[in-house]
Amino acid sequence: MVRAAARLSPDDRGFLFGDGVYEVVRFYGGRPFALDAHVARLGRSLRALRIEGFEATAFAEIARRLAQENGLADGTRYLQVTRGAAPRRHAFPAPGTPPTVYACTYPLSAAPERWARGVGVHLVPDERWARCDVKSTALLANVLANQAAQEAGAEEAVFVRDGLVTEGSHTNVAAVFGGRVVTHPEGPRILSGVTRAVVLRLCAELGVPVEERPVPAADLARADEVLLTSTTSEVLPVVAADGRPVGAGAPGPVTRALLDAFRAHVGRSL
Ligand code: PDD
Repeated sequence: MVRAAARLSPDDRGFLFGDGVYEVVRFYGGRPFALDAHVARLGRSLRALRIEGFEATAFAEIARRLAQENGLADGTRYLQVTRGAAPRRHAFPAPGTPPTVYACTYPLSAAPERWARGVGVHLVPDERWARCDVKSTALLANVLANQAAQEAGAEEAVFVRDGLVTEGSHTNVAAVFGGRVVTHPEGPRILSGVTRAVVLRLCAELGVPVEERPVPAADLARADEVLLTSTTSEVLPVVAADGRPVGAGAPGPVTRALLDAFRAHVGRSL
């Protein structure tokens, strides 16, 4: 179906409350990358919010159908599941109210140069809720943070909670100190990024030591390198934080090695 033909009820709880979850999977050459991990996380998000009537495993088939119908080989497949449409009240709608399922494809929009040049980030207070591990469509704090970053001339916002870096508005964040990759541990303060997990496994393969602990925001200025990971950003070098250069102010060797390793891994695993 063409996007313009899709219809949503004004009573949809995704629209009224942000009461829904989503996933974004990357396709390379018509093939999904790490689909199982995305399906597993979708299942965790649905269970956490107690949204019933949709099996996360159905995403695999939906993604394949979208790929066929759109013929878009490189891009992302987006899936959103909300708690359905019902007269507005905060408590759950009547049992059996079907969830609303919306899926679509997006072409890639980022210029390839951003990986060669690196990007800037802007630090913002982490004002999100206490379940950032749930991939909820309620993303107001992320929207405001990313807008603040854009207005500051940076590409991504980096959240800081209690003086510690948590993650980006739509990316996970890692820093490199003396050859060690340091990143916030999994838990309710960050989304368990699929790309993050792949990159940490690649660190082990490359013999790069990893510490899963939060990086104090004050330490970012003395990091040798900072990098972002996400489905669309892959491994993206950060070259400036709040206008000040990170490390040498250019993509560093650990980040470049991890980006190369990530792309080689994608090539092998499709
Ligand atoms: N963003 N942290 C947040 C808050 C995210 O929204 C995302 C993903 C990530 C990285 O997760 P992954 O490696 O699984 O993509 C971390 C998606 C792509 C988005 O909002 O478009």
